Amino acid sequence: MKKKTLQELPDSLLCSRRILVRLDLNVPLDDNCNVTDDTRIRASLPTLDYILKRGGRPVVLSHLGRPKGKPDERYSLQPVADVLERLSGHHVVFCEMTDTDEAIKATHEMVDGEILLLENTRFLAGEEKNDDGLARTFAELGDVFVNDAFGAAHRAHASTAGVAKYLHPAVAGLLMQKELDYLGGALADPKRPFVAILGGSKISGKIDVIRELLPKVDALLIGGAMACTFYKAMGYEVGKSLVEPDKVDLAHELIETSGTRLILPHDATVAPSLDDTGKAHAVKRDAIPAGEAMYDIGPASAESYARAVASAKTVLWNGPMGVFEKPPFDAGTIAIARAMADATAKGATTIVGGGDSAAAVAEAGLQSQMSHVSTGGGASLEFLEGKQLPGVTSLDDA
Ligand code: 3PG
Repeated sequence: MKKKTLQELPDSLLCSRRILVRLDLNVPLDDNCNVTDDTRIRASLPTLDYILKRGGRPVVLSHLGRPKGKPDERYSLQPVADVLERLSGHHVVFCEMTDTDEAIKATHEMVDGEILLLENTRFLAGEEKNDDGLARTFAELGDVFVNDAFGAAHRAHASTAGVAKYLHPAVAGLLMQKELDYLGGALADPKRPFVAILGGSKISGKIDVIRELLPKVDALLIGGAMACTFYKAMGYEVGKSLVEPDKVDLAHELIETSGTRLILPHDATVAPSLDDTGKAHAVKRDAIPAGEAMYDIGPASAESYARAVASAKTVLWNGPMGVFEKPPFDAGTIAIARAMADATAKGATTIVGGGDSAAAVAEAGLQSQMSHVSTGGGASLEFLEGKQLPGVTSLDDA
């Protein structure tokens, strides 16, 4: 079901009104509480800008980390307020939410051109319980609700889903709309050939995505340690590689039922241990030595996966091909990122799921060369699994 978007609201509904905006400002902080990656803050700017240009007054809600329902200064949004002020070029008023009446009062004292950022919603006990009373209180913070927190849309919390029961219109912000358009477009109506690449360590975390994607794609390329569980199902020895013994039968069933669409790496980069990077070498998939483990797809597989990406019109990638944080086990992941960047330049639609693959693309400096890099880790995974996201379903229908 299509949801109503911010862009569909008449400007008169925004001008001089309090626009409650749920963002996902859950950014990483270092030990001194400095923001170490501002991607999610930047990704939230278009929606804030859209509202401010129309004379609206953004009242921002977000979570940060997992503070367990009570204030914890390590998870304060104060450092985010400073970055938001610098990046947006607008004055950001920061308000602690220990007393929600104070917060409501602050929304009525806003002036044009100002952003009000309220303290971490997860400092409040009712947030993660989707407490009805808290949802009603949040609804008093604005006249319109805009959910732009795609990254938190898989959580049924008071500030993501509950509030939308009591505050209308409840619409999708620009980032939310973009995420749903790209990810939803790939699943519903991809330009073909449609190639998906799935990596990561465990089949168990990706099984629902594999099942959802297999009937839709022209090819599903598998990488990461989860390839080893498939190898096991094919009867190969995998040495010390990570295997999920209880998923071998499932891997077997997937191989049997997928025809030629499920593609496994033909070679692997192995080493005696993750720290033995100097001893890394490539072997065929049926020749993984007993005392070694697979830490990346091999170079021949990286090359053939890159060719598959080059021939595609839609590419969807979720999960690294190996231990990309540790060269030389990053080679397969980098090869995919580069192939996708080239494919984008040739007109393909390239979509990177959030989490590790987004981090790898950022590390390779290729973010801007993808059609879309999702800001949602768990959320993009659940979306690709075909699940309904409470932060989306709760919004007004278009
Ligand atoms: C994320 O980082 O994936 C989102 O902000 C959701 O955070 P959570 O997993 O703590 O709910």
